[in-house]
Amino acid sequence: MSSARVVVIGTGYVGLTTGACLASLGHSVVCADTDQAKIGRLTGGRIDILEPRLSELVTDGLEAGRLTCVGTAETAFGHLLRRAEIVFLCVPTPMGAGGLADLGILESVVKQIRETLPPGCTVVTKSTVPVGTATRLAQLLRRDDVSVVSNPEFLREGTAVRDFLHPDRIVVGSACREAAEQVAALYASLNAPVVLTDTASAELVKYAANCFLAMKLSYANAIAELCDRAGADVADVAEGMGYDRRIGQEFLAPGPGWGGSCLPKDTSALLQLADSMDFEFRLVRAAIDTNIRQHKRVVDKIREVVTGTRLGSLSQVRLALLGLTFKAGTNDLRDSPALAVAALLREAGAELVAFDPAVDPADSRAGLPFPVKDHAYHAACGADAVVVLTEWPEFRKLDWDRLATLVRTPAVVDTRNVLDVPAVVRAGFSWTGLGRPPRSAPATTVLPDHHAPESAPGPVGAPV
Ligand code: UGA
Repeated sequence: MSSARVVVIGTGYVGLTTGACLASLGHSVVCADTDQAKIGRLTGGRIDILEPRLSELVTDGLEAGRLTCVGTAETAFGHLLRRAEIVFLCVPTPMGAGGLADLGILESVVKQIRETLPPGCTVVTKSTVPVGTATRLAQLLRRDDVSVVSNPEFLREGTAVRDFLHPDRIVVGSACREAAEQVAALYASLNAPVVLTDTASAELVKYAANCFLAMKLSYANAIAELCDRAGADVADVAEGMGYDRRIGQEFLAPGPGWGGSCLPKDTSALLQLADSMDFEFRLVRAAIDTNIRQHKRVVDKIREVVTGTRLGSLSQVRLALLGLTFKAGTNDLRDSPALAVAALLREAGAELVAFDPAVDPADSRAGLPFPVKDHAYHAACGADAVVVLTEWPEFRKLDWDRLATLVRTPAVVDTRNVLDVPAVVRAGFSWTGLGRPPRSAPATTVLPDHHAPESAPGPVGAPV
């Protein structure tokens, strides 16, 4: 198939990336959403999510006439749907009761569109859905002339466009070989390996991959803890492990825990699926438990740095949190480990002030129970410790000499091991990472006067 007529329902980061990228591959794409205001913004080329190159692809697609954005309530939507060859469902499947994915939105979309779909059309699930969903949707469609295909996405937030255009693999599952091949053909120009399979296997690939990544991360965090106790350096341990091609260098960086809108939801869902099939999936359970413990470990580490003991009180302690999003390169706060750590710190009585390059202090949508400042330097005023929770590269470029004049105590807890340690210690700070030997300021360092100014510091430089 050279160019296909595609409708994508749902313009979240998966739907919009899918739509914009398919349009960039030459397909004729309609992106539809129930949120008419969002459609208005998209039509004007404005996108709400922070995703490199996405805005550019949307604008290019709109200008070239290969991309159209439409509200599902508009009459035009019905006309466009009637001409579709392939319809992607990219609506949310949030975690519902008991950890199971909630398919309410997906099912209601299927009911809304089933009468309008043209004969011979293919409906594709792109969202992560429980095993058996494609079969269930086929029943719900009540259309023998429409095929259902599972084509899970493997996009990471922050690199979604790159991941879409340079995929490691394309997975397509269907009971109808022809429909599966039709969907696989959409990606033909990407030259990626294609796994053609049945729907249950395609659906399971996604969970199996995400849960494996979660296990790998929990393992990396546990190894970091062991490094702390053994006096080893996790950076070297991870590098040494990662050269083994069976292991690989990626996803070995310790942190405050894994989070985001996918891994927590998918690990819970796989556990539920296994439970429902009378299989106790202990490995996944252990990965989740290790992740929850990781938040607490980070709090203990902060406690130790600030009070000198893992049992010290954090009451009256002021902490500057750098980074709130679940990882760098996104403005997504959903299930952020930084927020989980912040909640524990608040519970322990600490006073928090935060800064994140992607969180606008004026935007009340974040609804955070502590102040967010517009500069790292403002957040650091009077802090007993600076705590890095997200691996924003901007934090490496901070002026630590300047920070040293603002904090009450020059101590840094770098839960992402992201900082330029020599620069930090040269400025007189102690540095404590995860799984790496702590570093103190050189004895010769002349410490600044640590009485932080009451008000914000004088002129601030470029925001970081
Ligand atoms: C994840 C998967 O990586 C994608 O392949 C998948 O398509 C996506 O879920 C999804 O199901 O839609 P994403 O949630 O965007 O992508 O985030 P990741 O890049 O996987 O990061 C997850 C968490 O692990 C973050 O909190 C991140 O900070 C943490 N992480 C990642 C580490 O702590 N260390 C690492 O070395 C890597």
